[in-house]
Amino acid sequence: MSQLAPDQQPEGWSSIAEVYDQSFTSMTSQLAEAALEQLDIQLGEEVLDVATGTGVFALGAARRGANVLATDFAPGMIELLQKRIDEFDLKLIRTAVMDGQSLELEENQFDVAASIVGIIFFPDIDKGIAELKRVVKPGGRVAVVCWGEMEKFQMMHYLRRAIEITAPDFELPDSTPVWARLLGHESLQDAMQRAGLRDVQVTRIMASHELPSASEYWETFTSSAPPLQLLFQRLGEENTRRAGEAFAELVTRDCNGATPCLSAEACIGTGVVA
Ligand SMILES: C[S@@+](CC[C@H](N)C(=O)[O-])C[C@H]1O[C@@H](n2cnc3c(N)ncnc32)[C@H](O)[C@@H]1O
Repeated sequence: MSQLAPDQQPEGWSSIAEVYDQSFTSMTSQLAEAALEQLDIQLGEEVLDVATGTGVFALGAARRGANVLATDFAPGMIELLQKRIDEFDLKLIRTAVMDGQSLELEENQFDVAASIVGIIFFPDIDKGIAELKRVVKPGGRVAVVCWGEMEKFQMMHYLRRAIEITAPDFELPDSTPVWARLLGHESLQDAMQRAGLRDVQVTRIMASHELPSASEYWETFTSSAPPLQLLFQRLGEENTRRAGEAFAELVTRDCNGATPCLSAEACIGTGVVA
């Protein structure tokens, strides 16, 4: 039996590509845009996006005139991105299904390689960063984005509160989530320096997601990432419905009549290949 968590397996992500795109990419596209700015992508540069998902970083790099290879280990994510590429006839992006821990790519061929909240899921995070560095030319740039302080991850905060209120006997997982193994400014800085990148800089950014309505958001949120799917399966249908009502109430109350909005802190790390 596999020791890997559901968010470390391609099937987990493939089956939810559409829902992930609806629930998370309005946030991750803000992280991608900030990373693209910091990397200062130039026309004609060769850019690699690892764990691209539905392609927020890859699409942004192509909009800036770069030639992009977008990779992910989940065929479902790549199919969705490829559909978008075909629909808009985007000539600057190619896609490939690939594990980011062992990229099937020659070394020293990209000007830039990045992973937006992707490497955080890898069983071997250091290997993921080392692979970005390996395929980038000397003098090229690498970016890794992870989430910031857990307390500032509002959707997770409201989710916990809603379950505690409506199902107080339910045991919420107390182990560190897979994606929180690389979390925050210091651990990102350490990981990038450990990889041998130079001029490492880490900045914090708040990303926010305006919700159509908190209850409508709940419908997609419950299946928008593999660990959430698992959590709600365990919680059961009735408790999930009640937790959804509490979630909507908490979010709506805290936004004081303004458009409901959820925010999260992320850290953007950049470095240069020696
Ligand atoms: C939270 S999503 C981020 C997607 C996208 N970068 C974004 O910012 O919206 C995480 C992505 O990592 C991918 N992923 C997880 N482990 C991977 C691995 N070992 N190799 C390649 N992709 C992986 C998943 O398939 C998923 O698309």
